[in-house]
Amino acid sequence: MDITALTSGKKVLFDNYLHAYLAAEDTSSGIVEAFAYSLKAGGKRIRPVLTMLACECLGGKADDALPAGLAIEMIHTFSLIHDDLPALDNDDLRRGRPTCHARFGEATAILAGDALIFQALSVITAAGYPPRIKLDILEFMAEVCGVKGLVQGEYRDVTAEGKEISMDEVRDIYRRKTARLFELCMFAGARVAGGAREQIEPLVGFGTYLGLAFQAIDDILDVTSSREVLGKTTGKDLAQDKATIVKALGLKESRRWARDMTEKAVALLPAAHVVRAEDLKELALSMLKRVA
Ligand code: FPP
Ligand code: MG
Repeated sequence: MDITALTSGKKVLFDNYLHAYLAAEDTSSGIVEAFAYSLKAGGKRIRPVLTMLACECLGGKADDALPAGLAIEMIHTFSLIHDDLPALDNDDLRRGRPTCHARFGEATAILAGDALIFQALSVITAAGYPPRIKLDILEFMAEVCGVKGLVQGEYRDVTAEGKEISMDEVRDIYRRKTARLFELCMFAGARVAGGAREQIEPLVGFGTYLGLAFQAIDDILDVTSSREVLGKTTGKDLAQDKATIVKALGLKESRRWARDMTEKAVALLPAAHVVRAEDLKELALSMLKRVA
């Protein structure tokens, strides 16, 4: 199945939830206007969809995963606002429109990103989840975002520019800057559904491999796709000599590696003994089709 067909129902559910959330915020504030602009820009909403699928596969309702999905999308959007800044990747196009700093200026973009971290925390604390579940999600979130996770991944990504890079190093960057957030989607969705530890572990492992495949596919598309199709600048990784899988392995081997990670993700699903694993499997396979 095509990725859009697979995710569209849940994407609508999520977008309605996001719009209701933003409608209750004071958009006369320049900061809120800036983060709402980036949040509303959209994209495929892979992370909230994944959070909902993780919840559903353990018998929970997609609706119940919406606050967790929103918090994760806020963290993701914050990370992209900062990733696009002149000091980092210096990009002016994201999701088909000017990046936050290109539209509102650098100072506003930095602060809008900062604000989103704490908005995300508030969304979790205000959610109707039992306190233990909120705490578990917040704990996992702090771990995947902090100095062992996204921040470290982004730091290595930026500091590895222009240097020789091994596939082990690329994998480590991918795990931290991308896959750990996919792990959080799986953890939060499964935790909200009341999954047992033995079920959550393989689902988080699914998130690891899916995230690794996702970042490999993203970097392959930077070489093979276009600005019009992706809604962001392409060809920049090569121009900036970024630490990507394509640089480490070349295009053909990169595709094979993405397929290998996808297969590893799917192979973990039976261990989770879930009610329904088909949609997670379809999501993984449809992502891979983008570079097949
Ligand atoms: C996009 O990668 C960027 C990321 C996946 C992570 C960005 C992380 C940070 C800015 C660190 C701060 C994060 C937290 C949560 C504290 P890319 O540049 O390869 O993709 P692109 O082509 O879409 O820009
Ligand atoms: Mg970037």
